[in-house]
Amino acid sequence: MGLTTDAARAGALARLRADEAYVAAFAAAFPDREPWGFDEVILAVACFERALVSMNAPVDRFRRGERDALSFAALRGAEIFNTDYKGAVCHHCHNGITFTNDVTHQSSPFDEVVYTNVGLYNVGGTGDYPAGNQGLYETTKNPADRGKFRTPTLRNVSVTAPYMHDGSVATLAEVVEHYQTGGRLIDDGPLAGDGRVSPLKERGLGGMRLDEDDIRDLLAFVEALTDADFLADPRFANPEPQSPFFGE
Ligand code: HEC
Repeated sequence: MGLTTDAARAGALARLRADEAYVAAFAAAFPDREPWGFDEVILAVACFERALVSMNAPVDRFRRGERDALSFAALRGAEIFNTDYKGAVCHHCHNGITFTNDVTHQSSPFDEVVYTNVGLYNVGGTGDYPAGNQGLYETTKNPADRGKFRTPTLRNVSVTAPYMHDGSVATLAEVVEHYQTGGRLIDDGPLAGDGRVSPLKERGLGGMRLDEDDIRDLLAFVEALTDADFLADPRFANPEPQSPFFGE
């Protein structure tokens, strides 16, 4: 997040140290590590992130035996999501407890992180994504890696619009439409191109043949990954609404 140089880190530390609430909180958390520095900031952020466990969505409650946690529509949606029904291959990439193949774990089917081009762009028919935002390619500079991104988790995805790495898809319904057509067609403008026929698109994303009821049910399943308890947990709330770090 831009904290890649010593100067940037020193600046961030200075801003934290100027905030009384942080000074008190760090003293309480790290009583033996005065003066605290960037190592302690990293520890604190890592501890916070480790606490962000969301496992009480309707889908989780259903798996734990609450038979009425899922509506009939969501149950049917789970069936669509988890089988290759009419070309809906969601579970190939969005799988496991996090609904992504981005983490490896004991008995994980993958031993490395998977990057995929889902056909969001095909600028001028070249397979290009917008310059400077080409995913894995930005690191490897391998032309075959253009447009390859990690699979995001789908937990709580109903509250995180807009979608995809650049927020270029507004709603979940439009995301499903994207998979239905097997890529995005951009008619005009500098990014024009047909993602459906991108030479770099993942082969398995050939489009789906879902009807209106299927789409409604698939969306009901995705909505059922929303953990209301997690989202309302005061431990994760902004501790300092007035702080310049959080803003409005
Ligand atoms: C071949 C792997 C693959 C398959 C199959 C797949 N996805 Fe994805 N999904 C991805 C990747 C990669 C992204 C991120 C793409 C990007 O940001 O450019 C993504 C993004 C998403 C997002 C947006 C998440 C966010 O936070 O922005 C949703 C929602 C989603 N997929 C749902 C689905 C559904 C529903 C299906 C089945 C119809 C499906 N996916 C099938 C790999 C896949």
